This record gives sequence, structure tokens and C-alpha cells, in this order.
Amino acid sequence: MDRIAIVGGARLNGEIQISGAKNSAIKLMAASLLTDEPLRLTNMPRLADTRFLGTLLTRLGTMVDERNGAETILHTPEIVSSFAPYDLVRQMRASFNVLGPLIARTGQAKVSLPGGCTIGARPVDLHLKALEALGAQIDLHEGYVYAQAPRGLRGAEIEFPFVSVGATEHAMLTAVLAKGVTVLSNAACEPELGDLADCLNKMGAQVEGAGTSEIRIIGVKKLSGATHAVITDRIEAGTYAVAAAMAGGEVRLTNTRADLIEALLVKIEEAGAQVERMNDGVIIRRNGARLKAVDVDTGVYPGFATDLQAQFMALMTMADGESVIREHIFENRFMHVPELNRLGADITVSGGEARVRGVDRLEGAQVMATDLRASVSLVIAGLAAEGETMVGRVYHLDRGFERLEEKLGACGANVRRIKGEGPAEAEG
Ligand code: EPZ
Repeated sequence: MDRIAIVGGARLNGEIQISGAKNSAIKLMAASLLTDEPLRLTNMPRLADTRFLGTLLTRLGTMVDERNGAETILHTPEIVSSFAPYDLVRQMRASFNVLGPLIARTGQAKVSLPGGCTIGARPVDLHLKALEALGAQIDLHEGYVYAQAPRGLRGAEIEFPFVSVGATEHAMLTAVLAKGVTVLSNAACEPELGDLADCLNKMGAQVEGAGTSEIRIIGVKKLSGATHAVITDRIEAGTYAVAAAMAGGEVRLTNTRADLIEALLVKIEEAGAQVERMNDGVIIRRNGARLKAVDVDTGVYPGFATDLQAQFMALMTMADGESVIREHIFENRFMHVPELNRLGADITVSGGEARVRGVDRLEGAQVMATDLRASVSLVIAGLAAEGETMVGRVYHLDRGFERLEEKLGACGANVRRIKGEGPAEAEG
């Protein structure tokens, strides 16, 4: 397995081009199951997660054609199998989102339940309730969802008891081909929802209100092919914004939008770094002055993203004072804390709250993490730590960060990948 070595101390200066969003790309890929015509996706990130899903889609009957650059064409003339096995769904939870499109297209499906993951239990009860409301009959046996809709899917009013990104997306992906009108209330407002709705509408769907808490979908009989550019990855942009604030220097993030990470940018400014919001991105600057500790509460969009919590915690390890970071989305998302402490941080966790007392220096060490965003927080800490930080289990990073060492290296960071033996794995 590969490792990443970082020698801390270099300031970052330069430009980083942000890729298309992983968490949108994988839902858009699933949308390709809804039509027998080709779906052409541009601004596609090249990641382990998009490859995992490509493997599953290929088994279901999709031809996945990765062109040069960032273009992928997905074409499913016919569904050849409605079966998504445990091994493939376990590797990437979002694979579960093929369930609705398979039912919509073929009237039945057998898809593995994803199981828990390192950041929390992550049940799929809201997904299943939404599909049932849309007319699917669901049975659970031996870890699999057996779904049927012999009389087809029909529109429904679905009120989510709390906000779920995945369940809202799944309901939307399923309802576009249901007969009649579907209204999703207390829907997630994350930008990736808007991106999915834009793509579905280009395919001929009628989705209104995505990006607000009420989404209205008028079902259509058939969807067509389309061309769609994947929205910018706000979590990648936020991660490099934090990296620049940690290392110091001046970094311009392009191919992205400041408004998508506003909750983070405000916190970076409060901490004492400068932020310049541009039309096509954002510039982060920090001179030598020490940052101040600031508190953070994660929340649903437009709140502070849980997917940026670990990175911001890394930033706070060397700030002046004590920062309180509260995680409100996942119950177990502090797996990075013991690893940051190995680098010399002073963090204690109690329930959903972490107290980060800023230290004067971090010191490089061997570390590893158990999820994607936790891993990158260790890279960020390594940028400011004295000596060498060696981050293991890099397959987590590869799930969601495209060419990370190249992008950071081009700005002057001393980061290198050490190739290792053994298979890559994934979960979550
Ligand atoms: C998406 O996960 C993202 N993943 C996550 O990013 C992100 O952290 C999360 O949204 C929140 O923004 C993808 O898009 C692939 P949820 P998702 O359903 O859809 C509970 C990353 O690092 N819940 O909004 O799974 C759930 O356990 C990943 O890129 C139920 O109880 O998140 C959680 O506590 C990690 N029952 C909360 O809701 C359900 O049926 C919110 O989860 C569904 C969810």
C-alpha cells in the first residue's frame, strides 16, 4: 500500500485547479442507468470511488468510456443485471444509490445493504422508506434489499424526518421516472443536489426546487442522453484553502466557487488568514502571524461541512488558544484525533465535541487514518509539522483527492508518494 511523506515547513505559493466533485460525480454516474442513451459527463474527477462505481455499472450493463481529460461517457442500452453484490457496495456506500434507478428502469433489483462505516452507523432507512413511498415493495434478507415495483413507481409526498443528502438524492433519482408528482420536503440543500437536478433536467426530467428544502418532481415516461459538467468539488477546494492557511503563503484556487465554501472561508478569516473571493475561485493568504483559535459547529449546507471538520481541526492544532469543534452530522467522526495527537496536538474528545488547545509546534511522525477526510487532515498537519510525517493507508486519500501530491507539490510543498506493495482497499 502506498504512503505519503510530507516534510513540513514549506510555504505554499501558486495555483491549484479544483476538480469535479466526487460526491456529485458518483450520483450522476448512477443517473446514467435511467436512460438507454449516452450520458456524457465532463469535469469528471479521476478517483478510486468513480472507478469502483464504474466497475459496478459495467456489471449492470453500462459501457463506461473514460476519455482523455476529464470526460466520461456512460451508456446503458439495456440493463443486463439488476444485482449489486455486497463486495462492490461495501467498497463504496454510494453504490447503494443504483437501487432506485434499477427499480425505475426494470421494475426490480437486488442490492446489498452497505453496512456501517468508520464515521458512524450510517443506516439507509430513509432511503428505503422513500422508495416504498414511491411504490417499491422492499424485503430484506441476508444483507440484501430485494425490491420490486410490479405496478410501476408512482409519485408521492415524502417528508424526511431529518436532512439526508443520500436519501434526498436517491428519492430524486427514483422519482423522475415515477408516474405523477413527487414532493420531497425537508430535503437536503447541498449543492450536489442542484447539480444532480440540473443533469436530470437536461435528460428530460422535470425537477424543480433542488437546492431548497422542498423539491417537486413531475415524473416523465422516458429520459434521454445529455452532456453535463460536474460541479466543482467544494470539499477539495475547502481542503486546499485550509492547507494554505496552515502552511502560509498565497494560493489561488481556480475552477471553483467561493460561495460554496462560505461557512469555511468566514472561519478562516476569523482565525486571521486573508480570503479574496474571485469570480472564478478564491485566494487564501497568510503571512507569518499565528492564527487565532475559533470554534466550529458542523451542519447541513450552507453550514460548516462535516467533510471539512477534520481539516479545520488540523488547522486549529497550532492556533493561539482553545478551539471547540462540535460534530453534528456523524456520531463517530473524530478518528483523526489520536493521529493528530501523535503529531503533538493537544485534543480531547467528549461525546460529539473536541477541544483543541493550540500548541507551538507539531512534530512529524508515522500516522494513518481510517477515512478519506481524516487522512487529508494528517497531510495538512504534516505541512506545518517539523520533520517528516508519513501518512499510511493512502488508499483512503485516493478515493477522493485527485493527484493530491502533484497539486500541493506544484505550490512548493515537500510531498511525495512512496509506492508500496499490496492491494488497495476501500470502505465508507
Ligand atoms: C453524504 O453522505 C456524503 N457522501 C458524505 O461525504 C457527507 O459527509 C454527508 O453527505 C453529509 O454532507 C456522499 O455524497 C457519497 P447523509 P450521506 O445521508 O448521504 C443519517 C465524504 O467524505 N442517516 O446526509 O451518507 C446518517 O447516518 C463523505 O465524501 C440515517 O440515519 O449522508 C448521518 O448521521 C463522508 N438514515 C445523517 O443521517 C438514512 O437513511 C446524514 O447523512 C440516511 C442517513
